[in-house]
Amino acid sequence: MPAKNAAQWLEPPRVPETHYVSGAVYTDPAIFAEEREKIFFRTWRMACHESELPAPGDFRTYDHVGMPLVTVRGKDGRIRTFLNVCSHRGATLVQEIAGNVERFVCFYHLWAYDTAGTCIDIPREDGYAKTGLRKEDCGLREVRTETRLGLVFINMDDAAEPLADFLGPALDRFENVMSHGNLEVLHYSRQVLKANWKAWMETNVDAYHTFMHVGLRKTQVDTTRRITVYPNGHTGGGGQKMTYANYAGWANRDQSLALPGLDATEMRTVHLWPNALVLSRGTIIRLDTIVPIDIEHTVVEFRGLGMKGDTPEQRRQRNSHHNQFWGPLGRNIPEDAFAAEACAMTFGPGAARYQTIARQENLTAQDDAGLRNFYGEWSRRLGRPYHNPSNRT
Ligand code: FES
Ligand SMILES: [Fe+2]
Repeated sequence: MPAKNAAQWLEPPRVPETHYVSGAVYTDPAIFAEEREKIFFRTWRMACHESELPAPGDFRTYDHVGMPLVTVRGKDGRIRTFLNVCSHRGATLVQEIAGNVERFVCFYHLWAYDTAGTCIDIPREDGYAKTGLRKEDCGLREVRTETRLGLVFINMDDAAEPLADFLGPALDRFENVMSHGNLEVLHYSRQVLKANWKAWMETNVDAYHTFMHVGLRKTQVDTTRRITVYPNGHTGGGGQKMTYANYAGWANRDQSLALPGLDATEMRTVHLWPNALVLSRGTIIRLDTIVPIDIEHTVVEFRGLGMKGDTPEQRRQRNSHHNQFWGPLGRNIPEDAFAAEACAMTFGPGAARYQTIARQENLTAQDDAGLRNFYGEWSRRLGRPYHNPSNRT
């Protein structure tokens, strides 16, 4: 086929409208503002794993698309989340990234809150006697928090559907693997991408790019993959058997290290809409949380999950299994980051106008059904067709 002239380049691909995406979904500031309100402030976001908050008083702070949050295990054992904002004059309440507290004490005027978010101390409280301000009216703003299979999720929307309804059966393939309470986070890292948040989801939902990764080209046969499309934009995959020894310097994985319910050679994945991944490679689980900083910068948090109680040698091997593909210098993460940023570089200035998501292989192998499912939910939530998002539905 000949190269295209300028006008031809602007034409959409000659495939059904459901099979291509307009570049405006990455670059239009109005769309990004709507995503914040209609997606990130209304759907469930994976925040951390419960093993990161093992004891009463353990907390973690983090950003949710500009909203400062703190998740804490209360004295009663329950995990709750609050806006990390003091109700006195709005200062950031908790300054540390993680730690353990008896109670939260604001640095500014020393108002104090218990781990259930109740205001429990106001210095020289009688100074408010004439104005009617009462401690019991000064609690923190609680953010809905629910767990599934040890994964802690938050939702900014008090009226949102329960987590179980939102997830539906999407995590069922990890039921046996993650329900026993013996998993813990053994790896944490984070990376800032110069790319729109959706680019990281795409490069993970996209099964066709297996060929980009030398490590995958050598160790896995993609035609055995089976893809399951779930309601609410979630997609699952798996079935591939990995032959790690095909890669020079690597060995096949020993079944003695396999996680409960998994074969050590097996790959299993779930992409949770809008911004989380749960992936397993038999002996290790990877969790990604993808949160935009702005329209063209994204933070990806990576967690690796393994078994509690490993011997030092088992842990060394499990860490090695994690890092071969999923460490910051592994055979997947830097390559996927390069792909996401390479697309961002062209869509940002308007050089690229569309991307096609047109592969159909009956939900096997390298079908783009997961990408169409992701964008179908995006369109439903925003009321904008992804092939032409300026045309509201
Ligand atoms: S702003 Fe927190 S105590 Fe005043
Ligand atoms: Fe990849």
